[in-house]
This record gives sequence, structure tokens and C-alpha cells, in this order.
Amino acid sequence: MELCIEGKIFRNGAFESACIGITNGKIAAIKKTLTADSHLNVGSRVLLPGGIDLHVHFRDPGNPKKEDFQTGSTAAAFGGITTIFDMPNTSPPTTSLPLLQEKQRTANARSLVDFGIYAAVTEDNLRHIPALAPRCAGFKIFLGSSTNIGSLPSPLLKQALEAIRPTKTRTFIHAEDERCLSHYAGPEENLMDHNRRRPARCEETAIHSVLSTDVETPVHICHLSSQDGLAALTQHPSSITVGVTPHHLLLDAAVDSRHPTWYKVNPPLRSPVDREAIWTAMTQGDVDILESDHAPHTLDEKDMEFGKAPSGMPGVETMYPLFLALVKQERLGLARLLSLLCERPADLAGLPKGRLEVNRDADIVVVDFKALTRISAERLHSRCGWTVFEDRQAIFPSAVFLRGEQIVDGMQLLGSPGSGCCVTRQDQDSKEGDA
Ligand code: DOR
Ligand code: ZN
Repeated sequence: MELCIEGKIFRNGAFESACIGITNGKIAAIKKTLTADSHLNVGSRVLLPGGIDLHVHFRDPGNPKKEDFQTGSTAAAFGGITTIFDMPNTSPPTTSLPLLQEKQRTANARSLVDFGIYAAVTEDNLRHIPALAPRCAGFKIFLGSSTNIGSLPSPLLKQALEAIRPTKTRTFIHAEDERCLSHYAGPEENLMDHNRRRPARCEETAIHSVLSTDVETPVHICHLSSQDGLAALTQHPSSITVGVTPHHLLLDAAVDSRHPTWYKVNPPLRSPVDREAIWTAMTQGDVDILESDHAPHTLDEKDMEFGKAPSGMPGVETMYPLFLALVKQERLGLARLLSLLCERPADLAGLPKGRLEVNRDADIVVVDFKALTRISAERLHSRCGWTVFEDRQAIFPSAVFLRGEQIVDGMQLLGSPGSGCCVTRQDQDSKEGDA
């Protein structure tokens, strides 16, 4: 045994003292006592699985001044996220095998945490699906246009999902229907306008389009934001999974801020009623995962007038810490949080991660539940340099391990660019993660 980390683990709803033994980056044993070449005792601190964020928008390639794989993954690491999945609306968008392989090479060289890379499905690249499927971490379909990418016309959705079905590749859907959105075009000056211009009805319409294709491709509805969207998903088939974001759970369009553009995001922040409905769904287990939708834009861009400011906000570093604080405040249980941030994301991505169990990757965060602090953009690591969660309570990990290697120690970064690897689905042996 190379390393043993001794501390409290959370098992069957309770904390117990245990040693996690690690060999070759994998958990080799979990026992009351273990001997190993090196031994780290974290005392009463808690050992939790590293978080898995299935939804980030690092801006690499195309916009390194907003974020690249190095800065984005550093932010992830300090926030206890040991695996990220990058969305394809970069510049250029990830729509072909050479572009996918190029992005994988860049991430391999720069990322400090493990990563998967999605490919986009657009009107023009349906024929590339068979070549992309074995090599990408999943597909992304925008049913409504978004930053740097147009929408897939909904009549092509069934065709796309049918082409993807034999490859069994999960397809992530941005569920805002473009045609529906076009009925609400017009000027907008604030968050309420933005919500009116991209109403929940268009989320509901997009979800109905997905359901009506009746194709058994595994589909994930990203960032569910509204009560209407939730209602559309009642009794959805098990092939469909659902994600929610910290911003839709913790904020709404009634927020009073000196920087309303910071809160502009697609899908928009909704009403307090919507916020409460998705919160309830999340705590009750009607939602599969938490996803940050980390979308860094520069302050210069966000400082433009409301109608011109881009949509999206950073969040990969604050997601796990915000929710650990909410667990401490008993707003939700730790078991539920670990399901949302670690276990279900690992299941969806088909990864041997997300649980502290023998034979899984030793991605471990060390948490001191007494270390409640307040978020400050100054101490975050995204290149964009701002957060909508300023001053909110959070618990940041005191140490982070990626496959048994320590990458974060308090405020100090120990990992280096390239410590992250491209992940490979366990159920697709033929898959070539690395380019
Ligand atoms: O608000 C958003 N920002 N929604 C998206 O779908 C994309 C994201 C971005 O990449 O900026
Ligand atoms: Zn997104």
C-alpha cells in the first residue's frame, strides 16, 4: 500500500473513523487500521469523494482571456471538483473529430483535474456522429442558440438521437426551444425582462420535443430551471436524467444587485416559485445531478448594457463548497449531496469514481465542517475574477487528492498542468480517450 489517509468517512448515514489505502491511484482497501508506505492522519476531518461536474464551459480554444483548461481546472481543484466535462461551444465549436482530438490534446497538457470532452451535434455534422461517438465523453445538443453556437432545429432532433442511439452515448440537451424563443424577441433591460424573453414555456416545449422523439438514447436535460419544465418531466423514462445548477437553486430573477448582468444566464433565473419547486425536486430525489454550468465571461463584457451583455456565470469552484455549507445548515442531507455531486455523475459518465469504494479512483476531498467561511472573488481561481456568490457561506476543502496524488493543500496548489487525464467510459472499452 502506497498511501493511507486516515480520517472520518461517511457510510450508511453516519461518520466513522477509517483508513483509506491507496495503490496506483485506486482505493485498495478501507479498514479501521492499515499500514502503508506513507500515512496521513487528518484527525476529525471528513473524507469525501471528489466532485464530478458534468457541465463546464472553459473557453479553450478561442477565449483564453476568459478561461483555459489550466485556470478552469485549477478553480475546479480548489472547489473539490476532481473531474470536469467541457461543453463544445468553444471557438471553434467541437463539431468534428480533428477538433475534438485537438481539444483533448490541449486539455491533456493543461488540465490539473481529470476531464471529458463533449462534441456538439449541429445541423451540419450529423454525419460525423459515428466517428465522434467512441471518442467523445457525450454529445451536446442546443435546442436554443447560445454563446457561440446556433441551435439544432427541433425537426432534426429525432434524426440526431436515432443516429446516436446505437452508440449508447449520453446526449446532453440545452432545453430551450428556438422557435418558441423567437416569439418573445424584443428589448430587455433587466432580469425580469430576460425571464420574459426566454420563458419557462420554451423549456417545457423543448422537453416535450425530446420526449416525443421516443428514442431510447440516454438523454440528459441540463440545468432544469422551472416548475413547467419539471411538470413536463413527470414520469419521464429512466433513460432521461436531469440536472440543476446552484444558481437556479439559490437565486431568482427578483435578485436585487448592482450588477444585474452578472446574473443574466440561459436558461434565465426564474421566479421564487420556480426556484423553490426545483429545490424541492432536488431534495426529494427527482433530480439526478448538480452541474455548475461554469460559464466565465470577462467583467468588461458583463459591464455592457443589459441587452448586449453575454449570458452565463462562473461556478465550478463554488458549487461543492456552497452545498457543503448548506449541508452544515441542514438544508439538505450529506447523502443526498454526495449522490448529486459524485455518485450519479459518475454513473452517468460510466466512471469508476464518485464513491469511496475499493477499486474506484482515489479522488478524495478532505473537509473540515467547522471551517465555514465566506466566498470572496479575490480568493477564487477562475480567470474571470467575479462571482454571483460573493459573501455566501461556504466550506472549501482543506485538501484534495486526484487518483491518490495531492493536488490542493489549503490555499496552496500542488498539482500541475497535465496531472489530469482524459476519462474513459468503463462500458466502452474500445473508446480512445486520448488523442
Ligand atoms: O448562459 C449560458 N452561458 N448558457 C449557455 O447555454 C452557454 C453559456 C456560455 O457558454 O456562456
Ligand atoms: Zn451550459
